[in-house]
Amino acid sequence: MKKCRLSIVGAGYVGLSTAIGYASKGFHVIALELDAQKAEMINKAIPILYEPWLQKSLQEAVKKNLLKCTLNLEETILNSDITFIAVGTPSKPDGSIDLEQIKKTACDIGAILKKKKTYHLVVVKSTVIPGTTENVVKPILEECSNKRCGTDFGLCMNPEFLRQGAAIHDTLNPDRIVIGENDPKSGNTLEALFADFYGEKLPPIVRTNLATAELIKYASNAFLAAKISFINTIGSICEKTPSVDVKKIAEAMGLDKRIGPAFLNAGLGYGGSCFPKDIKALIAYSHSVGYSPKLLEIIEKVNNDQASKIVETCKGFLGNLNSKRIALLGLAFKPETDDMREARSVLIINQLLAEDAKVVVYDPIAVPNAKTIFKKTIEYAESSAECLKGADCCILVTEWDEFKKLEPENFTAIMKQAILIDGRRIYDPEEFSSKMKFAAIGLGQKPLESHLDLVLIDPLHKNEIINII
Ligand code: UGA
Repeated sequence: MKKCRLSIVGAGYVGLSTAIGYASKGFHVIALELDAQKAEMINKAIPILYEPWLQKSLQEAVKKNLLKCTLNLEETILNSDITFIAVGTPSKPDGSIDLEQIKKTACDIGAILKKKKTYHLVVVKSTVIPGTTENVVKPILEECSNKRCGTDFGLCMNPEFLRQGAAIHDTLNPDRIVIGENDPKSGNTLEALFADFYGEKLPPIVRTNLATAELIKYASNAFLAAKISFINTIGSICEKTPSVDVKKIAEAMGLDKRIGPAFLNAGLGYGGSCFPKDIKALIAYSHSVGYSPKLLEIIEKVNNDQASKIVETCKGFLGNLNSKRIALLGLAFKPETDDMREARSVLIINQLLAEDAKVVVYDPIAVPNAKTIFKKTIEYAESSAECLKGADCCILVTEWDEFKKLEPENFTAIMKQAILIDGRRIYDPEEFSSKMKFAAIGLGQKPLESHLDLVLIDPLHKNEIINII
């Protein structure tokens, strides 16, 4: 069977990972990127963003002539059968999303579809609020092409669930595929592509209407964010409960198949270009349709409070932070990326600077991005040792592997005051708290005297409390 020819508008991390994923299975893919420098880099197989395996997979795709990047949309559309739209939908100040790039892309594609003689399927991959594909993209495509959607060309919404840092892996191994379709032919065309692409590894496919597909994406991200804020709430309770550790609680909860272990890692909370933006957009959308989404608002608040909480813990150890040297290990919003969008490090650094602390930071790859944000207001170290040297307190912000290998002596030998606050729960509390001042998200303080107190309520005399020591 002849393979579909694909095109992708937007070579950001979703577009590029998708393009490379398809090319890796022998599909011809043309990517449109309006930034000439980026397009040239892609064509020379130079990665334009940090993603493990990107360089190798990109080199293979370019070498085999399966991936080409162009500035010319006409070439892109006329030489492909299916076009994915993967342009950005940035946040506006009120939390809603900006659809300008989507609208322009739809109009430009429509104008070229006008000239095209054969059927073409347009697939929205960008994250957009319910109703966007039906009420914004479709009318623009029809108007600019002077053709009818459903008969002359097809339209689907296919949300993306890939994670930064694992984008190629997730493209090749999704848990499920969601196809929102304007009409059965559009859905069948896209399903046939997925059947060809995944072969025997075809995951479950959910076919639905356009708006449901759009909301599935937001609901999925909001649910994952809810799990994080939930476990962080339990973590805050643990911090006030002697000898109780949220890690044990998450481990036990995760063994319940109805709950599952994923996204129950307590810590500084979520950042990145997706969860914060998507929660805000879903909140704004809910309000726009007359519903006040209290749960979503509290997920966001709990998440933002985690950064303030860690600065308070720092103050708890040091008192006044004025002129105190605070070392941050990790800047990226998670490991395996240099992305600092909505990173918790940014909130923490801003709060520390507001307290007149001296901030020194180290991250294996995100320092250049940090420099564009903080310029000369903070110090940049080239290793964890340089970062920790002479510091009054260290906050572990991102759980990079190289930080997991640090021993208590790596801190105690060079810090001015050996104080460590573990914001991602990577260090063993027993070991570290025996050698230095140590606190961690979700870790209850030890009772002053170490003995086992069992407090029971006598079932016969419910008000009486029996203490068994
Ligand atoms: C997220 C989703 O996981 C993807 O499914 C989705 O496609 C993507 O957003 C998107 O909308 O494009 P991503 O933002 O790359 O992917 O990163 P995640 O691995 O989900 O982590 C997000 C944040 O949550 C990170 O800051 C991470 O540190 C934090 N997190 C994650 C926790 O604090 N605890 C956890 O247990 C898990």
